[in-house]
Amino acid sequence: MCGIVAYIGHREACPIIIKGLKRLEYRGYDSAGVALLNGDLNVYKKKGKVSDLQAFIGDKDTHSHIGMGHTRWATHGEPNDSNAHPHYSSSGRIAIIHNGIIENYASLKTLLQSKGFTFYSDTDTEVFINLIEDIQNENNCTLEEAVRLALHEVVGAYAIVVLSKEEPNQLIAARKGSPLVIGVGKDEFFLASDATPIIEYTNEVVYVNDYEIVVIKDGKLNIKTREDVPTTPYIQTLQIELDSIEKGGYEHFMLKEIFEQPRSIHDSMRGRLVAASNHLVLGGFLEFEKKFVKAKRIIIVACGTSWHAGLVAEYLIEDLARIPVEVEYASEFRYRNPIIKEGDIVIAISQSGETADTLAAIELAKSKGATIFGICNVVGSSIARASDAGAYTHAGPEIGVASTKAFTAQVTALTLLAMMIGSKRGTIEDSKLRQLMIELENIPAKVEKALELNDKIVEISEEFKDAPNCLYLGRGYNFPVALEGALKLKEISYIHAEGYPAAEMKHGPIALIDENMPVVVIATRDSSYEKIVSNIQEVKARKGRIIAIVTEGDQVIPAMAEYVIEVPETSEILTPLVSVIPLQLLSYHIAVMRGCNVDQPRNLAKSVTVE
Ligand code: F6R
Repeated sequence: MCGIVAYIGHREACPIIIKGLKRLEYRGYDSAGVALLNGDLNVYKKKGKVSDLQAFIGDKDTHSHIGMGHTRWATHGEPNDSNAHPHYSSSGRIAIIHNGIIENYASLKTLLQSKGFTFYSDTDTEVFINLIEDIQNENNCTLEEAVRLALHEVVGAYAIVVLSKEEPNQLIAARKGSPLVIGVGKDEFFLASDATPIIEYTNEVVYVNDYEIVVIKDGKLNIKTREDVPTTPYIQTLQIELDSIEKGGYEHFMLKEIFEQPRSIHDSMRGRLVAASNHLVLGGFLEFEKKFVKAKRIIIVACGTSWHAGLVAEYLIEDLARIPVEVEYASEFRYRNPIIKEGDIVIAISQSGETADTLAAIELAKSKGATIFGICNVVGSSIARASDAGAYTHAGPEIGVASTKAFTAQVTALTLLAMMIGSKRGTIEDSKLRQLMIELENIPAKVEKALELNDKIVEISEEFKDAPNCLYLGRGYNFPVALEGALKLKEISYIHAEGYPAAEMKHGPIALIDENMPVVVIATRDSSYEKIVSNIQEVKARKGRIIAIVTEGDQVIPAMAEYVIEVPETSEILTPLVSVIPLQLLSYHIAVMRGCNVDQPRNLAKSVTVE
């Protein structure tokens, strides 16, 4: 949700910033801008994509060694040139980029207007920079001091970078609630919302903490708290490969990430599961083994696709570990005074590790005494750091806005967790555990096989690409998969889609079914197979057009469905890892055929850092 990037050092800043913004464009793409310091403080900004900004900059003189850039996902004010960042202060002396929301901007704006400040945009960010300027004027202080004092006045979330033409060798940044990473190079520094713009220059990074202020001046990095107390930067070495953030020959990141799943699922299990030697270990779990074994209840908090992975985990944990599980939308949980009892464990699931609602749900659960176990993909992310323990999913960077490989990696990590809890609680028989370990190890090969369905799915997509609506049905472990399939279709192809438990269809959605309604039924051979066959009959009786996802060799459903997609057989509890693959491909191809921007769907952003 908005991407920020900044550079100070010996290289030309502008190309580094533009390249960084392209890497961060998945976070927001309503407008983009840069500010460059070279005697003057020049701002170039434009509605649209980073490529529109590039065209606008054209051959203007961008020579500079200090600068910052922003790609926006609009919160306050529509996407247009004037609302794009960076924003100047009223005097034009200082400029800011900002990711987050300033909640008390309206009262601050009124105050500043009464003091004669003029505003040229509808944004909360312009209020922030004028507040800094006002404080600097009133106190006759340095920019650093003015930023520090301003941080005490604003309520909300922010990651900011501020530049001043009067203090030209300095970058100032700060964070609360929105991510900010510093890249530490040789005589140069980078700042960004995540590490992707940084890693081609350096893999040494510092994650900025909430309420910290970063001052990079004359080649030196200093970090202080908002109370002006110096802190020692903790430099970490990242393991991300450059290849993993590039398209690698695929037309879209989403397609690349779908096809990466055999490897990403394998990576989620690497070092954690070796069936041949009966090795099953999830590092983070060990720290809290006793708590998990004794837990009376597990609450899962997440949003979107991660919430769907949470639903799969509910089935898994209740099946294998016999602990009651509740799955909550983080956005609801945080505002409804939930009952948390001693001994409750909260599992927070998040690809980005930055989702504002999930982070707030964690803080609330913590304040009520719960133990937090995080399942995150992004190493060093806010949710990973706010958790008491956890497991990384190791899916590698996910750039496509629609989540694919993160989902299967989350389900893999959660399966390992459920197996571990079950084995320690003695609720899963050894023979069943062994069989599951072997079966889970075989999943990457089965996903590989499911990916071979791609050509067939292209044909089916051609047939259904113009449908205005689509229904997805599943039961048991395939119910969350139905929700996920529907979410994928609506978010990237803008086709209205609903996921339902197949039996619930009779309680309403069946009224929608006629000869124009495509119904995707996930009907792999499992304990509710006979039941879902009856549901298919019910759809067929109303002339619905059925696309069925079935287990290889199914003899019954092909006679009823218009299209059949056969996926490899696996254990019932592992089915989502395989049955979701054709649904990801279906949504991808339909979106491409409809001319949609698959990697950057309208109105969406990858990382939702505002509530
Ligand atoms: C859907 C999608 C979103 C995210 C949701 C949570 O394809 O990507 O629904 O799953 O915004 O994001 P994380 O997992 O980063 O907390």
